[in-house]
Amino acid sequence: MRMYDLITKKKHGEELSDGEIGALVRGYATGKIPDYQMSALLMAIYFRGMSDRETTSLTVAMAESGDTLDLSDFGTLTVDKHSTGGVGDKTTLIVAPIAASIGCKVAKMSGRGLGHTGGTVDKLESFPGYDTSLSSDKFFEQVGRVGISVIGQSGNFAPADKLLYALRDVTATVDSVPLITSSIMSKKLAAGSHSIVLDVKCGSGGFMKTPEDAEILAEGMVRIGKRCGRNIAALITNMDNPLGFAIGNSLEVIEAIEVLRGGGPEDLRAVCVELATAMVSLALELPEEEARARVLNALSSGAALDMLKVWIGAQGGDISYIDDTSKFGRSTYNHEVRASKSGYISSVNAEAVGIASVTLGAGRASKEDSIDHKAGIMLYAKPCAWVNEGDVLATLSTENDSALKAAEEAVRGAIVISSVCPEKKPLVYKTVY
Ligand code: URA
Repeated sequence: MRMYDLITKKKHGEELSDGEIGALVRGYATGKIPDYQMSALLMAIYFRGMSDRETTSLTVAMAESGDTLDLSDFGTLTVDKHSTGGVGDKTTLIVAPIAASIGCKVAKMSGRGLGHTGGTVDKLESFPGYDTSLSSDKFFEQVGRVGISVIGQSGNFAPADKLLYALRDVTATVDSVPLITSSIMSKKLAAGSHSIVLDVKCGSGGFMKTPEDAEILAEGMVRIGKRCGRNIAALITNMDNPLGFAIGNSLEVIEAIEVLRGGGPEDLRAVCVELATAMVSLALELPEEEARARVLNALSSGAALDMLKVWIGAQGGDISYIDDTSKFGRSTYNHEVRASKSGYISSVNAEAVGIASVTLGAGRASKEDSIDHKAGIMLYAKPCAWVNEGDVLATLSTENDSALKAAEEAVRGAIVISSVCPEKKPLVYKTVY
């Protein structure tokens, strides 16, 4: 097999065989295929696409390029949830304990925040003592005993994807459906859960900008997941504006606790109920209506909140912070952004708000940066809400007062106030099974 021949084949729109795809993933991961040839192949894939068989083969080869988790001891009860990335997306902190309290096994590896979206591992580290790097023995023991453990992703997880993603990023080949599908699904396969719920974020702060594009991606990922023998569903959810009010690590943890206590922002609660319903329905093989009833009961009975305490405590975190969230502390500078005129909130640019929260200290500009767990934004402006001049739209929290001016400008620029109420968009566009 010559790489030149594979590039030529794909350039002419022909299908690559499973053997050819396996060889090129191995060849690239071991440095035998140079970047310039892989770049040419990626661009050929971008224009010519891949069949489902080819995408499945690419997904499996990337999953098998590094460590994989074997969760077969837990039978078919294991369930994972993956979001394509959003602003204020703290859903894992809510749906994972809901699902575990109902009998699912949640053995999850999560990432850190990079760019304008946050990461679950950073949020969990807001709890003093929480250990995100358990040994695999402890991780498995906790999943068996408690029903849930969430740790940071191992360094050798789908390494071929890491290399290919970095190359796609600099060769304008990120936005190819088979390449996105194989990238996301390879990590989900390696993570080992039998059931997978994907949250495909759609809108200004999401990876896909329109419901039509999000649906193409969601359907593709579900087909590939099924071909790989997994139980899978994808929800297409709105990310035109941040989910809930809180953006920033401990602010988001506090908001997640509010939802588990039975309150919290309506949009966040509604999306979590639907995600958890899909998780429970897939893992326990229940009709959707029954799964939803169990999810609502887990919230109203306090079972999901109790599970959060058991989980955080088992992983070394200080659970007194759950009963008394003031212990998370407050930033030194808390600056209010007020409406400059009266009107309806007509749009909120989630990505711009996410970037502003990073400048306040809630995220990293590069992998090595440390983060300020208390920093972030409470954003009260929701599309279609009426505001009077002088009303508080957002509170910016930071230890770095020199960041406030730029963050305020960014938040003001992100919130558009007009005289008409915009058309209300659904929170959940569709569930694809
Ligand atoms: N997220 C991923 O992990 N991979 C992609 O290609 C796109 C989004």
